[in-house]
Amino acid sequence: MKTHTATAIAHPNIAFIKYWGNRNTALRLPHTNSISANLRDLHTCTKVTFRDDLTADTLHINDQPAEDGALKRVSLFLDLVRTLAGINSNAEVISSNNFPMGAGIASSAAAFSALALAGSAATGLSLDEKALSRLARRGSGSASRSIPAGYVEWQAGSDDADSYAVSIADENHWALADCVAIINASHKIIGSSLGHTIADTSPFQEVRLQTAPQRLDECRQAILQKDFERLATVTELDSTMMHSVMMTSNPALFYWEPASISVMKEIPLLRAKGLAVCYTLDAGANVHVFCEASSKQKVHKLLAEFPGVQSVIDSEVGGPARLV
Ligand code: PMV
Repeated sequence: MKTHTATAIAHPNIAFIKYWGNRNTALRLPHTNSISANLRDLHTCTKVTFRDDLTADTLHINDQPAEDGALKRVSLFLDLVRTLAGINSNAEVISSNNFPMGAGIASSAAAFSALALAGSAATGLSLDEKALSRLARRGSGSASRSIPAGYVEWQAGSDDADSYAVSIADENHWALADCVAIINASHKIIGSSLGHTIADTSPFQEVRLQTAPQRLDECRQAILQKDFERLATVTELDSTMMHSVMMTSNPALFYWEPASISVMKEIPLLRAKGLAVCYTLDAGANVHVFCEASSKQKVHKLLAEFPGVQSVIDSEVGGPARLV
């Protein structure tokens, strides 16, 4: 029996300027660029072993056999790896996360970037960052952004070959932290793959896409110049614009819970009092509160005492996906 194995670690990322809606669903080509930061203290660790004696792919997540839907998605992704490598073997995939899945903490970004790296390395392929980012994108669009280090921009591109993410500044460039106020840690009902397919049904999507280049420029400049106020303004605007599209699509998607809104109202007040904080929400109720890493404990404590916040998970900005 021939076995080929590799293990990789990748971080989830959280977007300041969001990806919502595809130009090409099958290839996961987005309408616009997006900008994010990797979350150092959260990770997925995935081991892939291709074995000639397996009759089908297998998947374990956090020591449990995965449900059929997740296995099917992973198997389809492994088909891309098998095609690239020219092999037919099935794979055993063992994955674990140190954070809740499917609750707006981008578990699919960490999952598919770790799977792209471990899967390709296990076949003996040595893909460069661009090729890995393109491959990860096929599993989950935002996974393309978890391949490079630190602060990352996914360039929408025009086809499969030029849609990939690059680092705009490494993880040591600016010491920020994300304090995630967990408001609902259960698995979300409508996943982002389905959400992307209905984004264009919102009458607000067109204006969101048309104005995205300005927000992308603003965000990139704010990161490069470490200008927190500029980052805060554009990040909160972009998050609310994405959620406006979600709430006005058909069917309508409401991810916010009452406690999410309470936190969103409080953050700009704290900022006005001089605390560098801003919020952003993905496809879930949890509120990601960015702050300077030096005020992480203070922000954590403030959020933990907030009514409706179940717990707070902190992370500073992290590096690239890597083999272990
Ligand atoms: O990569 P996906 O298909 O899980 O989509 C991610 C969508 C958001 O998290 C809501 C926004 C983003 O840019 O990460």
